[in-house]
Amino acid sequence: MTESITITDNRSGESYEIPVVNGGVSATDWAKILPGIWFYDPGFMSTAAAESAITYLDGTAGILRYRGYPIEQLAESSTYLEVAYLLLNGELPTESQFEQWRHDITSHTFIHENVRKRFLDGFHYDAHPMGMLVSAVAALSTFYLDAKDIFDPVSRQKQIIRLIAKMPTLAAAAHRFSVGMPFVYPDNSLDFPSNFLSMMWKVAEPRYQTDPALSRALDILFILHADHEQNCSTTAMRVVGSSHADPYSACAAACAALYGPRHGGANEAVIRMLSEIGSMENVPAFISEVKAGHGHVRLQGFGHRVYKNYDPRAQIIKKAADDVFEVTGRNPLLDVALKLEEIALSDEYFTSRRLYPNVDFYSGLIYQAMGFPLEMFPVLFAIARTAGWLAHWQEMLDQDSKIARPRQLYTGADARDYVPMTRRRA
Ligand code: ACO
Repeated sequence: MTESITITDNRSGESYEIPVVNGGVSATDWAKILPGIWFYDPGFMSTAAAESAITYLDGTAGILRYRGYPIEQLAESSTYLEVAYLLLNGELPTESQFEQWRHDITSHTFIHENVRKRFLDGFHYDAHPMGMLVSAVAALSTFYLDAKDIFDPVSRQKQIIRLIAKMPTLAAAAHRFSVGMPFVYPDNSLDFPSNFLSMMWKVAEPRYQTDPALSRALDILFILHADHEQNCSTTAMRVVGSSHADPYSACAAACAALYGPRHGGANEAVIRMLSEIGSMENVPAFISEVKAGHGHVRLQGFGHRVYKNYDPRAQIIKKAADDVFEVTGRNPLLDVALKLEEIALSDEYFTSRRLYPNVDFYSGLIYQAMGFPLEMFPVLFAIARTAGWLAHWQEMLDQDSKIARPRQLYTGADARDYVPMTRRRA
């Protein structure tokens, strides 16, 4: 049976039936009934901007699945590269498909020497690595002119491989520059996360030895961050991609969206907040401050637009944190975080607003224990989310989508005549 909604226009008395498809109603159908009346939905609180078969998210039940596979199983058994293949292709790869994919990614990890020597080296000495990444990703479009052929399947696949492969190299290069260390070339005999760690930390040793537990923890974090359906940065990717810009330009826009503290910058904000709180005794006073601030002071790493339950990724991260701390030693801020969580989860202010820890509440503690500076946190997020951005970009192009162009409700001045400057009053 087809579900539908009937609405009546009280002005004319006419009724209209609108089908409910995949849990939504077509705004275009509504617009036919209400010409000239727009749907007002700032922040897309009630708007589905796309049909997508990539990620399923039920925020009330705390469920997250990539292409139908529960995030818990992928974090337990898969790797980031396999998950990237899954997101982009819809199915888990066979052994030979994975081998080809791994080979393709590995053989594209190097960046053009000019990207590093002329472009990245031109930044100010204290440049934020995320700002460098945003710019470097955009700059790649000037190196790969074939990227404009977005409807050529061979070119499209090549750009997808290049972006996933080069992101860790650019990220590590941005870090090395910001701390005045020489660039480390990729070591293509290493797996994806170990290669990144080598480019981050190698000093004078002939070969950087990663601790397998740390590589694995990083890979799990990459899996957890690989996609999250229509989040702010993915929406940026889709919006810019809808103009048929090349994928590097669209991806740079997505990186820029991720830079903000409400999105990819949240785990950095969590560590700053935990450091400011300092110790467990100060937690109750901080909670009171948050409550008195009525939204102006926020408990960073808490709350989510979609999850109104415990973020399933936060549970997995807590376990990964234990594995990392066994190698690195316990992050002293963990106790503050645990106390904050304990108090918030039993406080009416947070429970009534359904504010639970999100993925970023614990990820920063792991990154910090692994030695990553705070400025690198959003950069790490960007490495992982590249697979999701590209999967959505590709899906959007295959859907023959329209250019993203919302309407507005105009609230400005009526028509008025230009006044020469000499006759204007302050
Ligand atoms: N601390 C205290 N109060 C909060 C918090 C928080 N972290 N988050 C929301 N609230 C309160 C708001 O003040 C508001 O209260 P009110 O109804 O009395 O006005 C209510 O909860 C609803 O908040 P909104 O801002 O309307 O919720 P929205 O869905 O727009 O925001 C967001 C979601 C941006 C994630 C928000 O919860 C937040 O700022 N959290 C902290 C930053 C953070 O952790 N971001 C990471 C998100 S996950 C990611 O990007 C990977």
